[in-house]
Amino acid sequence: MTTPPRRKKIYEGKAKILYEGPEPGTLIQYFKDDATAFNAQKKAILEGKGVINNRISEYVMTRLNTIGVHNHFIRRLNLREQLIKEVEIIPLEVCCRNIAAGSLSTRLGLPEGEQLPRSIIEFYYKKDELGDPLVTEEHITAFNWATTQEIDDMLAMTLRVNDFLSGLFGGVGITLVDFKVEFGRIYDGDFSRVILADEISPDSCRLWDSITSEKLDKDRFRRDMGDVIESYTEVARRLGIMKEMPTVIQGGVQ
Ligand code: TMP
Ligand code: ASP
Repeated sequence: MTTPPRRKKIYEGKAKILYEGPEPGTLIQYFKDDATAFNAQKKAILEGKGVINNRISEYVMTRLNTIGVHNHFIRRLNLREQLIKEVEIIPLEVCCRNIAAGSLSTRLGLPEGEQLPRSIIEFYYKKDELGDPLVTEEHITAFNWATTQEIDDMLAMTLRVNDFLSGLFGGVGITLVDFKVEFGRIYDGDFSRVILADEISPDSCRLWDSITSEKLDKDRFRRDMGDVIESYTEVARRLGIMKEMPTVIQGGVQ
C-alpha cells in the first residue's frame, strides 16, 4: 500500500518543488538536494544542500522584506520547506553582475575577476529547451513577457537587492560577484504588482572569499572543485545562521 501524497504538487523544478499551500494564495516551496548545471546535463545529489539553501534564502528574503524589497517569502515551516505567496512567475531570469565571471566572461572575452565599470543587469528568457537565451527589453515587450513598467520595477528592485546583498556579504568577508533573481506578479483585483520570488542562495549567486577569492558557491559543483556543501555551510556560518541547523554539518539531515 502506498502512502497518499501529503499535499498536491503544483510544479517540480530542478532544485525545488512547489506544493499547494494551506490557504488560497499560498504555496509551499520545498528545497531538494538535487544539483544541476549546464541545463541539467550535469546532475548530482548534494546531501544537505536543500536545508542550507532553505535557511539562507529565508534569511536573505526576510532581511530584504525589512528594507521594503517585497518578496514571496512568508515563513519557514521546517528544514526544507517555506511558506510563500503564490505568484505568476515572469518567465525571465534577471542577472546582476559586479565582476566579470561565467557566461559574461565567455561571451565578451573578459578575464574572470575583472571589476566591471558598473553593475550590469541582463535578462534571460526562462526556457529550458532553449538553454535560457539572453534577451533584450525589445524581446520582452514584443512577446509580452513583461510590460515596460514591470521591467522598470524589476530593474529597480534588482539594483536594491544588489546593493543590499553586496553590503550583507561584504560585511562577512564575501564578495558578491553576480546573482540571478526571478520575479512574479501578485494580483489585487485588476491590478498586479511585481515582487521578488524563487530563492537567493549559493545556487543562484557567485560568492568569493574577499581575501583569497576562493569560490563559495555553485561554481564549485559546475567546475568539479569539490567541497560544495562545506562552502555553502561556510556562507551560512559567516552570516551567523548556522546555529539552528547543526545536523547539516554532520550530514545527517533528511
Ligand atoms: P552565468 O555567468 O552562468 O550566466 O550566471 C550568472 C549568475 O546567475 C550566477 O550567479 C549563477 C546564476 N545562475 C542561476 O542562478 N541559474 C542559471 O540557470 C544560470 C545559468 C546562472
Ligand atoms: N543552469 C543552472 C545553473 O548552472 C542549472 C541547470 O541549468 O541545470 O546554475
